[in-house]
Amino acid sequence: MGGGAEMILSDDIAERLINAAKEAGERAYAPYSEYHVGAALLFDDGAIITGSNVENASYGLALCAETVAVSRAFGEGRRGGLQAVAVTGPLDKGDGSSITPCGRCRQVLNEIAQLGGTDPLVLCVGTNEVRKITLSDLLPHAFGPAHLD
Ligand code: THU
Repeated sequence: MGGGAEMILSDDIAERLINAAKEAGERAYAPYSEYHVGAALLFDDGAIITGSNVENASYGLALCAETVAVSRAFGEGRRGGLQAVAVTGPLDKGDGSSITPCGRCRQVLNEIAQLGGTDPLVLCVGTNEVRKITLSDLLPHAFGPAHLD
């Protein structure tokens, strides 16, 4: 369904990225859902930028881990170069299947991906499996900055 060429990610780098996401998940502020999510973004210069979900007493204002990570990347001046993403959920919840980014996060990830012309591989981590799905497969026919040129 996607279109971009799938990037090659070595097992070593994938493991580092997943571990960075897990560590970020440990720093989540999620006292309401108790669902701790971590996200790690890998850039083409090797940098990894992480985020974790940040909830709010006004429940609907929760920020997802992926969105926090992308915000941090933009805040550091990044406008592309996104190669891969790892997303981890809590290990003690659900059926062990991999977490996948929510719809809003797919769109937020698409912004930086499309700006830099990449189709990042998203590593969706569960206790039983790691699913590798390109962002274009998660969000086909995405609307993005290219539409506004
Ligand atoms: N959450 C994320 O951080 N990322 C997602 O892609 C899905 C959901 C967070 C939001 C909320 O704090 C908690 O998980 C339960 O929905």
